[in-house]
Amino acid sequence: MLRLAGLSVAYGSFTAIQAVDIEVQEGELVVLLGSNGAGKSTTFKAISGIEKPCEGDIYFEGKSIVKKSPDRIVKAGIVQCAEGRELFSRMTVSENLVMGAYVHRKQKTEVKNSLSRVYELFPILQEKKSHTAGSLSGGQQQMLAIGRALMAKPKLLMLDEPSIGLAPLIVEQMFEVIQRINNEGTTVLLAEQNANAALKIADRGYVFESGAVVVRGSSQELLTNDDVRKAYIGA
Ligand SMILES: Nc1ncnc2c1ncn2[C@@H]1O[C@H](COP(=O)(O)OP(=O)(O)O)[C@@H](O)[C@H]1O
Ligand SMILES: [Mg+2]
Repeated sequence: MLRLAGLSVAYGSFTAIQAVDIEVQEGELVVLLGSNGAGKSTTFKAISGIEKPCEGDIYFEGKSIVKKSPDRIVKAGIVQCAEGRELFSRMTVSENLVMGAYVHRKQKTEVKNSLSRVYELFPILQEKKSHTAGSLSGGQQQMLAIGRALMAKPKLLMLDEPSIGLAPLIVEQMFEVIQRINNEGTTVLLAEQNANAALKIADRGYVFESGAVVVRGSSQELLTNDDVRKAYIGA
């Protein structure tokens, strides 16, 4: 479904990611692991079309997307849930969700159906649908951000560190919902520093170090890899 081939991205003279090869098959849940600054978000920005690569190519459903604008990439089915959440804090929960369906705004029935699905995944959002986004807790805001991304009906949902700053119990719930979204048919690409939790739900993973993929494998392989354990899980 998605293939990065020898992808490099530079910020001025600084190469943030170098010769990255990644594949995601339809239906998979794939995780990008790596500490702060390893290049996960840069990879996501390249896929979303926000940063243009200096080398390599990105294929989605067989076609190169590197020359497409970010909004055309969303229309093609790749939707990123932003790291900083970027909600409209003075708008209500339901208004934020409806904004997520902007690219499909003419299909009113579909927007309604997507909204019901999001409320079913996140009952708390339905309870708080008339509250402003800014009044929600951190975990609820993250759920709203994921819900808003789902409103765009992604084929591939990209989640950049959805567990950051959340309490352990909330993190657990978050990962359960991400797994459910994947089980119900949405392909998921996840970036995480929380390797343990992410590998529990992922099919496969890639470990980034200083802008390059240094280890790749099934979740089972990564969980039992000594270097990965030492660096990201704790022996
Ligand atoms: N807009 C930017 N300008 C310059 N350097 C950047 C920018 N964004 C990220 N970087 C650098 O690129 C590297 C990779 O960052 P990033 O992709 O955000 O890593 P991660 O998401 O894994 O923490 C880091 O060294 C970071 O400082
Ligand atoms: Mg990041």
